[in-house]
Amino acid sequence: MSTTNHNIGSLKKEKFLILGAGNMGISVIKSLLSNKILPRNILIIEKKISLELKKLKSQNNLIIKKKINYESERYEPSIILLAVKPNQLQSSIDNDFEKLTRNSIVVSIIAGKKISYLKNIFPKSIGIARAMTNTPVSLNMGTSIICFENKVSRKKRNIVINFMSLFGQVNETKSEKLIDNFTAIYGSGPAYVYLFVDSLIKISNKLGFKNSKNMTLQTLLGSVLLMLSSKHEPEELKRKVKSKGGTTEAALSILESSEGMQKMLERAIKKAAKRSRDLSKN
Ligand SMILES: NC(=O)c1ccc[n+]([C@@H]2O[C@H](COP(=O)([O-])OP(=O)(O)OC[C@H]3O[C@@H](n4cnc5c(N)ncnc54)[C@H](OP(=O)(O)O)[C@@H]3O)[C@@H](O)[C@H]2O)c1
Repeated sequence: MSTTNHNIGSLKKEKFLILGAGNMGISVIKSLLSNKILPRNILIIEKKISLELKKLKSQNNLIIKKKINYESERYEPSIILLAVKPNQLQSSIDNDFEKLTRNSIVVSIIAGKKISYLKNIFPKSIGIARAMTNTPVSLNMGTSIICFENKVSRKKRNIVINFMSLFGQVNETKSEKLIDNFTAIYGSGPAYVYLFVDSLIKISNKLGFKNSKNMTLQTLLGSVLLMLSSKHEPEELKRKVKSKGGTTEAALSILESSEGMQKMLERAIKKAAKRSRDLSKN
């Protein structure tokens, strides 16, 4: 698997179509705009215009349609992003939409929709890419994985990776099966972090602190920054916090036991990956 961070200059001449401007779609639209992609090169298909989208539209002169009319549109997107819910995809696609895909790479972030399934829906497209990401895309801090249909050239792949890099780190894989594991670890990952933080806050409150949220977030942030700036692996940093017979060691003897945090996480992630595989079967 390779991680890529590309420059964005090459995207200026691309034309984008975003299908579905909900949580994910709107984050992507904001990333495009903040990276100076011209609004006339972004066509949005969204059936329900939220207040946030309305505001973005009026600030940037965005083009938003409820449905595509191929003959009158005269718009040829080079990258189409599918960002509707899995059960909304079939009903979002009609003949006019399909005609639009003739010169496009179709990039799907829709959970559970395999490349083989997408190829059937978009037989005329110049290629399919299946990706998965996570909610920090709203701060351009997403973690994404992408798998391309074999026929997509390296040049086209790089353009799509450049696009996805606008909203965070992108990892390319040749194994589509890894997407289920990615979903289980990193797609759901923010929820695991929130659970950990929420648990610490509640315990801290119970033990009598009034400023628990601030203290917990500062501990998290400080630890993350230390991990990023240190040449040591997290495991070594953990060792540095504990001393023999000390308080950290007492706590870790429970967290690292055979019923401890790592074992529980492993079980949880395996269950999530299975769920992801099951959902892909539908
Ligand atoms: N949220 C995450 O953490 C996450 C992470 C990675 C990937 N994803 C994937 O990203 C996709 C989008 O997720 P989301 O959280 O952004 O969902 P969402 O907020 O529900 O956004 C989907 C948007 O598409 C609109 N839509 C539905 N049918 C349409 C149609 N025929 N034409 C135009 N617009 C249509 C929906 O409108 P209505 O509300 O009126 O239906 C909604 O505004 C999902 O497939 C999900 O699997 C999500």
